[in-house]
Formats: sequence, C-alpha cells, structure tokens
Amino acid sequence: MSSEFSIRVRGLHKRFPVYSKPHHRLLQMFSPTSAKNRWFREFHALTGVDFEIHRGETVAIVGRNGSGKSTLLQIICGTLAPTEGSVDVDGRIAALLELGAGFNPEFTGRENVYLNGTVLGLTRAEIDNRFDEIAAFADIGEFIDQPVKSYSSGMYVRLAFSVAIHVMPDILVVDEALSVGDEAFQRKCFARIEKIRDAGATVLFVSHAPSTVLELCNRAILLDRGELLAMGSPKHVISRYQKLLYAPASMAASVRARLQHEMALSRHGVNDVALEKPGISDARHEDVSRPALSLEDSVDDAYLDPGLVPQSTVRFATHGATIEDPHIETASGQRVNVLRPGGEFFYTYLVRFERPAVSVTFGMLIKTVSGVELGGAMSATQADAIDVVETGALVKVRFKFRCLLAPGTYFLNAGVRGRVEEGETFLDRVIDAALFRVPPDPGRLATGFVDFHVRPDVEVSNDPAELRHELK
Ligand SMILES: Nc1ncnc2c1ncn2[C@@H]1O[C@H](COP(=O)(O)OP(=O)(O)OP(=O)(O)O)[C@@H](O)[C@H]1O
Ligand SMILES: [Mg+2]
Repeated sequence: MSSEFSIRVRGLHKRFPVYSKPHHRLLQMFSPTSAKNRWFREFHALTGVDFEIHRGETVAIVGRNGSGKSTLLQIICGTLAPTEGSVDVDGRIAALLELGAGFNPEFTGRENVYLNGTVLGLTRAEIDNRFDEIAAFADIGEFIDQPVKSYSSGMYVRLAFSVAIHVMPDILVVDEALSVGDEAFQRKCFARIEKIRDAGATVLFVSHAPSTVLELCNRAILLDRGELLAMGSPKHVISRYQKLLYAPASMAASVRARLQHEMALSRHGVNDVALEKPGISDARHEDVSRPALSLEDSVDDAYLDPGLVPQSTVRFATHGATIEDPHIETASGQRVNVLRPGGEFFYTYLVRFERPAVSVTFGMLIKTVSGVELGGAMSATQADAIDVVETGALVKVRFKFRCLLAPGTYFLNAGVRGRVEEGETFLDRVIDAALFRVPPDPGRLATGFVDFHVRPDVEVSNDPAELRHELK
C-alpha cells in the first residue's frame, strides 16, 4: 500500500572533503584514517535537513548560490550519498539534474532516449510508443540522430526534459537545468510541469524566480548555507528569502537568526499561520540586543524579484540631462517590483544635469505590456516648473502612486522637459525605464486594468413588485 509521503528527508548532513593542495588528496589516500592525520578540512554543504513532501505536492527549493540545493536534489535522486541521515522516496523518480548527468555523450539523441527511458523503468515497447512524442516535444530536428556531445546545452536540456516528462514519473525533480532553455521552451516546460502536477505527481524543483515559485508551487523550502531556514507557503518562504537576500550587511546575521528561531518554533508545533500573526512569538527566545525587525510586516508586502528587469528599455538622445536609476520603492525606501494591490509606492529616479536648463519639469507614465497608456503625471505645471537648474545639479524625483491595477505586468516611462538653447524639449526620456508586476489575486472581483473600487450590491427578491417599488 502506498504511503502518503513521496519524499522523506531525515537528519541529512553532507560534508565534502576540501583539500587546500591537490597532492593532499593523494597523501590522504595513503594515510591511516585517523582524525589526526587528515589532509583535508570538511565543508558542510548540508547540515541537519529534515522535511517531508507529500504525494501530489509541487515544492520549490530556493536559496542563494552555494546554499546546497543541488546537493540536496542529488541525494534525493540517489546520485550522491549523504554523510549522515536518510532519504526515503516512494515512487518512480525522473530527474533533470545538472548538465552532463544522465546521457551518454557518444550516443545519439535517439539512443540516449532509449537508454534513459530504460533506466527510468520503461520497456522498449513503451519507449517505441512514446518516441515520436518525446522527439516532438524536444523539437531538436535532425539532431536527434547526432551524438549528444555535438548538442548545445539548450538542445541537451530539451531532450533530457522531454524524456523525463514522458516516462510519467511519480516524482519529477528538476534542478536549474531549465534556465538553459530559451524562454519559449521554458514556458512549454512549465506548462508541462503544471500538467504533471495536475495528474497527481510530486514535483520538486529549484528556482530563483519568485514569480514561478508563487504561481506553480503549493509549498517552498528555503536553504541557506546548507540549513533549512524556512518551509511553508510560497509567499511565506519567498518573503523570507527576499529578506535574507537583500538584508543590509549589518542586519544579515539578525535576519538569519530570526529565521532560525522561527524554524525552531515551527518544528515545535507553532505553525506558519501563527508566526505570520504579529505578536505571536516566544518571548523567552527573543534576543533583546537584536535590532527591531519584523519579518511579519513584509509577509503581505511588496518584494523585489531580481529577474524582473525590462529588456525593452529605449533612451532617446539626451539634451543635457540624464535620467539614472529609475526604480520603485516603498515609503521606507525598500526597492520593490512586485507590488501589493492597493499599496502606496514611490516611482523614483535621479536626473543629472550636464548643462543649465530653465522651466524644468519631470514626468512619469504607466503602460501595459502592449503599450496602452494607463496614466501618469508631470511634477508641476509649466507655471510651477523649476525656474533654473544649473550644470552639475542632481535632482531626485519621486512620484507617489497607489497601485490600483489588475494582476499583470506594467512598464514605466520617465522624462525630463525643460528649455535649453535649442528651445523647449525633452532633456532626457526613457521608455520602459522600469517594470513592475502585480501578482495574481484569486479573490479579485474588479475587471479591466484599473480598480475603480467598485462596490457591488446584489439583491435577489422573490417578490419583484416589492423590489420595483423600492427602486422608485
Ligand atoms: N564535490 C564537492 N566538493 C566540495 N564542495 C562541494 C562539492 N559539491 C558541492 N560543494 C559545495 O557545497 C556547497 C553547495 O553546493 P550546491 O551545488 O548544492 O549549491 P546550490 O545551492 O545548488 O548553488 P547554485 O545556486 O549555485 O546552483 C557549495 O559551497 C559547493 O561549493
Ligand atoms: Mg545548484
């Protein structure tokens, strides 16, 4: 009978030997295995990781580079042995780990499909049946009959992913391999991952993109320096990951300590929901010397998705001024680009003046992806413009706005107008200077781009005459 967990990780530790000189490895081989004669130091890639993933869950692992994500996935897939602890996996696992694993470079793509399919538990007849579909999804044309060593990394991943999804795994494990594919292929893969998820399989993948984690997963795990620092809803984990990633150096240690503390509490039965309510924390564990920092404050808040940067920025030739560093920030100065609907934000940029200008105004404009101009503002009317800005001056411009937009992606323009020798003109103008996203909101009733705060009131009556009477 099948158990309800799919992957169970218990007390997992992984230590790698690190040799400071290459010949130390050799010396170690000929040394007696006593701790005194060690020619290496140990690097702790995973330290005491515990979690369970249930059947049918889609879980993302997030964490900084080198935090142990790939090490963990390799141990789960059995390609790496743990130093301590155990991993139980229930079901057929198909994995897409780092490049180079899984395929034989000397064999053709076709041969590798058969090789890989067999390793993953399919019979030859089953692979025969699915081969055309596998090749069609990979879409690498005649390269299917070329040795894999001649493939580009994108082609390699296309074929490997295609095999992995067509074996109908119970568990699909995907490291960052997908980021090698082009955007269209990535979309196709994520659509397929959703399909696999909806068919009841367990999906475990590494991602650096908060938007993917929020949209695709029902749970997430944060690893940091080999330690499990957060686990829970994608929103809960992403907000903590962002805190850790963007904490100023002076706060980094306290943010980490706070996360460790939260994790310890949740292991003792204090669940996420309780932790997300301000005021519920174990006072005995509070470190009074720690600077006041509330992770809870930001749970519903906006955050910065580092992958969300405009690729379509266009700058018109400048006429003596340069717009710099356009971005959105919160009232407390935190940079954000995934905005909470209803929240107040500041669109901010600097303008450096390389020559004097008179009657200077600044502008902003919010547009949809397809370029529909939704709204914006000037900093002042012509009558109230800044009279003179001198050469070398630096101006900081902040536009406060309320995010009243539908879920989606929006672009911002920035512009400076003024009068120079040539006359009244744009001194600088940047199209698609910044970009932000409003995350999906399943409870949203408003339609269209702009939320006018329409308040519906619907009354059903079994006595139409009475209702008509009320309307009079
Ligand atoms: N074979 C090895 N020998 C020594 N150290 C290793 C070995 N494999 C991994 N490490 C170290 O373990 C740590 C975790 O590596 P891992 O590849 O799991 O990180 P990651 O979270 O996947 O990072 P990234 O986001 O860059 O892919 C790193 O500091 C890495 O240098
Ligand atoms: Mg990795």
